[in-house]
Amino acid sequence: MCGIVAYVGSRSAQPILLDALNRLEYRGYDSAGLAILNGKGLEVRKKSGRILELAKACEAHPVQGNLGISHTRWATHGAATDQNAHPHLDSSGRLALVHNGVIENYLELKSQLSKTGHRFASETDTEILAHLIGEAFQASKEKGEARLIEAVRNAIARIHGTLGIAVIHADLPGLVVGARRGSPLVIGVGQGENFLASDIQALAPYTNRVVILQDQEIVSLHADRFDIIAPLGAKTNFKVEKIENGVTHSDKGSHPHYMLKEIFEQPSSILNAFRGRLDSDGATAKLGGLNLTSEQLRKIERICVLGCGTALHSGMVGKYLIESLAKIPVETQHASEFRYGDSPVSAHTLFLAVSQSGETADTLGALREAKRRGYTCLGICNNVASTIARESDGGVYMHAGPEIGVAATKSFTSQVTIFALLGLLLGRLRSLSASHGAELLEALTHLPHKIEETLKHSDKVAQVAQKYAATRSMLFLGRLANFPIALEGALKMKEITYIHAEGYPSAELKHGVIALIDKDTPTVLIATQDGVYEKNLGSLQEIKARGGPVIALAHEGDKKIMGLADALLEVPQTHRLLQPILNVIPLQLLSYHMAVALGRDVDKPRNLAKSVTVE
Ligand code: AGP
Repeated sequence: MCGIVAYVGSRSAQPILLDALNRLEYRGYDSAGLAILNGKGLEVRKKSGRILELAKACEAHPVQGNLGISHTRWATHGAATDQNAHPHLDSSGRLALVHNGVIENYLELKSQLSKTGHRFASETDTEILAHLIGEAFQASKEKGEARLIEAVRNAIARIHGTLGIAVIHADLPGLVVGARRGSPLVIGVGQGENFLASDIQALAPYTNRVVILQDQEIVSLHADRFDIIAPLGAKTNFKVEKIENGVTHSDKGSHPHYMLKEIFEQPSSILNAFRGRLDSDGATAKLGGLNLTSEQLRKIERICVLGCGTALHSGMVGKYLIESLAKIPVETQHASEFRYGDSPVSAHTLFLAVSQSGETADTLGALREAKRRGYTCLGICNNVASTIARESDGGVYMHAGPEIGVAATKSFTSQVTIFALLGLLLGRLRSLSASHGAELLEALTHLPHKIEETLKHSDKVAQVAQKYAATRSMLFLGRLANFPIALEGALKMKEITYIHAEGYPSAELKHGVIALIDKDTPTVLIATQDGVYEKNLGSLQEIKARGGPVIALAHEGDKKIMGLADALLEVPQTHRLLQPILNVIPLQLLSYHMAVALGRDVDKPRNLAKSVTVE
């Protein structure tokens, strides 16, 4: 987590750092800070809270200078206070550091440093690293920039954990040193100016020419040049890449929140997920980026999907899609569990790492573990050139456009759409008939319009939200492919309203969950007409018999359900395998409207960050 930006050039650093930092606020928003070399020494501003608070502090006391580092924090070690905000200084007060990552052995290092007289101003793990680099800088016999580079290399060799850092020193005006281990860092190449950031997105208005720093590399950055130093100390070659279409800044348009804007973008984000990928002649899908031949695709015997949160839920829907269409067994794994578990994987298994950001540390760790074991791994990512996209053997981009709201919405439906394409492609290479393939293709082309129809119910969903906003606990039930939709509905509800919510397969109700039912615990029951519709009606009756209110998610005009449920969320009908894509939309809207009714910070809910780049 956390976002880093550094600038060196001829322009005033402060406005550039603040602007670029704003684009990284999705990585964390507990506190923010910057340090600028002002010609005499280091000047630091830092504030707990949003970047806006830092901007106010900088407006009240502007900092002059053309070189600086900045940071937006998602707290790991130490509360969200001014003291714990980055940058952190070394003992001399002349070296400043910003850090994204976690230093696992910081307590041991802190105790060693304390014994040699170091005193600390914060509770963070990062400050330890600032002191270690400062100490190594004092001890170094090198001169000029080599001195800071050596100090950084020696200090990070003592660290266990992950880091993306930017360091400046008052004795070396004109130099920023960056280093990366586990956490992403990218160099933005300008004219007479250069940048360093955790994410390309931060640099969008300044440059589209980037160099992605590789793991374990160090960079020394000046206004007119930069060098990349490999782990063993030699300068290394690099490639400047031009990023096209991957980075656009997004505003809310006429919507009050990014989340609502992104929910309403789904007709076009879905279209972008399948545009140019439908092959009506072959009644199949074309996915050029897989880097696998038809022969290799035919040999896949199992699929393992890795992801976290919403991305994992999309994989769970993907399981139903691929198993139905291609008859390939699919398992889904929490990426965080897979990477440390002993779970056996059979030969001819294809791994799919699903991640909107492409930077989620747990998913990246799991992908690396699968690759280490020798498996082929594909990525399903939204962020172009993200670490997961680059480290995968191939993959499919979502092309959903920037997703800024912390609650994932359009990325989920894009991911499920891509699973449908993948299922279709794999199915047509096996036993799926052309007519069944063509049916799905046809339904896909109508999906954007069906989503528009679904979104027309937003006002009605808002009324339901008003009615139930005072609730303290909710259940979400669904069966088969709608079970992950229930999980996703519950996750959305928890993360942006802070109402306790649980998702279960409907039939699990009677195995314990039913004890929670009372008149104050509403259940959202997904009961669109499918093979388990009657079973779902049975669950509805069981809940009603115990006095529990039921919000039924049903097909438009379903009179049977209308007569039974306390409230209705309606969706149009589509192909049974695509129905979950429509069904999730009222649940996104329900949590959104409830969060608004409760006055929550919809786009930046407490304790969360958009991109979870720590374990
Ligand atoms: C969903 O609303 C969440 N904010 C979260 O669960 C998210 O989906 C998860 O952290 C994975 O992110 P990724 O898709 O960027 O890997």
